[in-house]
Amino acid sequence: MTTIRFLTGITPSGTPHLGNYAGMMRPAIAASRSKEVENFYFLADYHALIKCQDPERVQRSTLEIAASWLAAGLDPAHVTFYRQSDIPEIPELTWFLTCATGKGLLNRAHAYKAAQDKNQEAGRDSDDGVSAGLFMYPVLMGADILAFNAHKVPVGRDQIQHIEMARDMAASFNHLYGEFLTPPEAAVDDNVATLAGLAGRQTSKSYNNTIPLFTPPAQLKKLIGSIVTDSRAPGEPKDVEGSALFQMYQAFATEAETATMRQAFAEGISWGDAKQKLYECIDREIAPMRARYEHLMSHPAEVEAILQAGAERARAHTRPLLLQLRNAVGLRNLAALGQGATKTGKAEKTALPSFKQYREKDGLFYFKLSAANGQLLLQSTGFAQPREAGQWIARLQSEGQAALADLQAHLQALPEVQPDDIAAALQQLQDAATQD
Ligand code: TRP
Repeated sequence: MTTIRFLTGITPSGTPHLGNYAGMMRPAIAASRSKEVENFYFLADYHALIKCQDPERVQRSTLEIAASWLAAGLDPAHVTFYRQSDIPEIPELTWFLTCATGKGLLNRAHAYKAAQDKNQEAGRDSDDGVSAGLFMYPVLMGADILAFNAHKVPVGRDQIQHIEMARDMAASFNHLYGEFLTPPEAAVDDNVATLAGLAGRQTSKSYNNTIPLFTPPAQLKKLIGSIVTDSRAPGEPKDVEGSALFQMYQAFATEAETATMRQAFAEGISWGDAKQKLYECIDREIAPMRARYEHLMSHPAEVEAILQAGAERARAHTRPLLLQLRNAVGLRNLAALGQGATKTGKAEKTALPSFKQYREKDGLFYFKLSAANGQLLLQSTGFAQPREAGQWIARLQSEGQAALADLQAHLQALPEVQPDDIAAALQQLQDAATQD
């Protein structure tokens, strides 16, 4: 059994706030400590360019978000932590997927449709101000995921459609070229709190009502002081239901503390006292991380080095996959063609038996040989390296039947297949390769 591979991206287009921390970072970091899973977390900076065309802000946000995750406890020894734009295989795969994806699929993306609806309501052209980047966003995201053959993608509800699209893209690509890509699944955690903002609305980068995660203590206190409450006086019982303050307290307090606070609300704690308790509770958790955050922010080269090391590890996965995919789609070294290169288009179209190389959920690499009519003739067992599967295919192609004896140990039993059919198929392939 291979370990389940989790992958998730964080778009660096703002400063992380307490809501991001409690809702996403803290649970993701806790989950990443599990030994049973392999984790890939990355800064989706190509994605940031869709929403943000201020270069300084992209750079600043990349540093802030990387430093925040590291300060909050992400361990780069345990999690492959990298920056999307350091992985050139991602844009390459984006193009392969673009060509295998129906435009209609992208027309249905919620984010694109929402932009169109807004334009229509305002009486503008429906594509007004919509960049091709926004339209292509799901393909880039699909490439992020499929380049690592990730199994599970922890995302918010708003991103589920993108994961489904990534599945569709993997299926279309595999249908055209063979089973190379693993269809991912969304992992949505509904228990995770979304914190209300200062004014009671949901926190979001676009309202200016959030508390930055690593704001200095005095500022933290001030922002907590500005959380909107009702006008109930000290001594009057207060509702925990719908209280942004209580909800935030709950996100940082222990269960026992939360129960005590619930009681205090019922007994009429003053808003001032409740805010003081909230401040203490948040600062207790954030203060130890703040020192590390400030260190990283003032030593950006350290962050850069961590991301570079992460990119190296990430590319150990993406480089071999993209080599295979380039070959699969036909972007190949011409020298490998030899004499067969002069074959006419017509000759090439005659149906031949075919090899397919693919990867299974178990992480191993397989190949199979199918007859021209689609009948399965050979089915390999799993190989740890794609190269091994490739080498066997090469031997079967060049040596034909003679390579079969050595291969026996790596074949799954197919009792209904006649040895003669295999021999004929291999002969046919060899004939085709030597034909003018
Ligand atoms: N689109 C995601 C968001 O805005 C970020 C993201 C980019 C992502 N690529 C990804 C998330 C791949 C998961 C997997 O939240």
